[in-house]
Amino acid sequence: MTKKLTTSWGAPVGDNQNSITAGRRGPTLIQDVHLLEKLAHFNRERVPERVVHAKGGGAHGYFEVTNDLTQYTKAAFLSEVGKKTPLFIRFSTVAGELGSADTLRDPRGFAVKLYTEEGNYDIVGNNTPVFFIRDAIKFPDFIHTQKRDPKTHLKNPNAVWDFWSLSPEALHQITILMSDRGIPATWRHMHGFGSHTFKWTNAEGKSVWIKYHWKTEQGVKNLSSELAAELAGTNPDYHIEDLHNAIEAGDYPSWKLCVQIMPLEDANTYRFDPFDVTKVWSQKDYPLIEVGRMVLNKNPENYFAEVEQATFSPGNLVPGVDVSPDKLLQGRLFAYADAHRYRVGANHNHLPINRPVVEVNNHQRDGQMNPTSNGGGSVYYEPNSFGGPYESKQDQQATFEVEGYAASTPYDNDDFYTQAGDLYRLLSSEERANLVNNIVAAMKGVTIPEIVERQIQHFYKADPEYGTLVAAGLGINVPEEV
Ligand code: HEM
Repeated sequence: MTKKLTTSWGAPVGDNQNSITAGRRGPTLIQDVHLLEKLAHFNRERVPERVVHAKGGGAHGYFEVTNDLTQYTKAAFLSEVGKKTPLFIRFSTVAGELGSADTLRDPRGFAVKLYTEEGNYDIVGNNTPVFFIRDAIKFPDFIHTQKRDPKTHLKNPNAVWDFWSLSPEALHQITILMSDRGIPATWRHMHGFGSHTFKWTNAEGKSVWIKYHWKTEQGVKNLSSELAAELAGTNPDYHIEDLHNAIEAGDYPSWKLCVQIMPLEDANTYRFDPFDVTKVWSQKDYPLIEVGRMVLNKNPENYFAEVEQATFSPGNLVPGVDVSPDKLLQGRLFAYADAHRYRVGANHNHLPINRPVVEVNNHQRDGQMNPTSNGGGSVYYEPNSFGGPYESKQDQQATFEVEGYAASTPYDNDDFYTQAGDLYRLLSSEERANLVNNIVAAMKGVTIPEIVERQIQHFYKADPEYGTLVAAGLGINVPEEV
């Protein structure tokens, strides 16, 4: 039987097609409270889009442990082979707005929320193992250059390449972004990475440094710049549609999760700072070790409720997993939860998509839009004499030593070129040609010669052929100073 239409306060609606007017012609009466509520709620349908990673799509699935790594971490969701943990994933582009095209050249977000028995564990990564910058203090400036120019409201290649050419640590990620991998064919056909270094600690309190790699089981496939540009016009939601259709058809995409594991003491002697997120750890030094498998098998029932309101944070950690001193990661520990309080509200973790599967017991109360029973009459402070929830000392973060002076200190490794050059030299001649063409196309809009010259010097220092070919593509010679 068709249900009765109701107002938001549950009363039956008498007429949903004609507003109440004085006489046949009107004017409209303010006493049509259903009309007022309908118009007013519509005005409030949008929450602010994510300041970065605004355009995306998501899916539900599960993670299954395939290898026993309990010698390295006490995290309960990894405690035995065969254990399954439900999860939600959101894929995204970074710079574009909510309605922008999926096939733009941009890193892809790869954010996984694992609903574990010890609370939510979020791995908020990208499809690239490195990042453009390595200190959070540079992030707002960097993103300003990726977004629209405040005066023209256009993308500004001068700003993009000015910032990059003055931030040589970006070269490695620029090389990945401009390579064939810069535009994945679909979200199903790309790897994911935790990118940062994290710390795992086992039941005996012994820790190791780790890096996460999600390996696509669909194989890596990319789009040519030409096809991507065409799709951006004909089907800007190409990646959302692909994921949705694959899952609807029962063709469930999957990824293998692997880790690289570094003994704690190696961090003091490795040939570069292993916490520097602009660099990868050699897989010869620290080979990939399998952990488990992720399968995506259910589409969201409602985009806004699940995808738009999902709040992922690198600070959502569980016992057995901690952060590293990576200066970019440290800043992210503030940025995400702060964005969530602003974008979704202080009680965002009570929403069904963000709510842990375990009971939440704490002393937080009240706040706008608290949809729970708000703790009822239970104890709302600690310490207390009434059996309220108590801290559990065994679940503290692993302790660590610190040294030196408190100061604004840069990373001490200034080798921006070796890994970018190594990556260039790994590419086939066709892949190198594509890389150079993509860079030339992206730099064509730069109107200030010093910016172009400064950037070409970086390419040249990574590999003379790399710099020479980009310069030739732009119709200039490699600048003198190199
Ligand atoms: C989203 C900040 C670096 C991956 C976001 C959001 C903020 C943010 C504020 C929006 C969150 C929201 O509204 O829900 C930062 C800052 C960074 C940084 C300050 C550096 C200091 C990174 C890095 C990665 C990354 C290095 C990947 C390794 C993501 C992803 C999302 C995101 C995947 C989208 C999450 C989702 O799907 O909801 N970032 N970010 N970010 N960031 Fe970052």
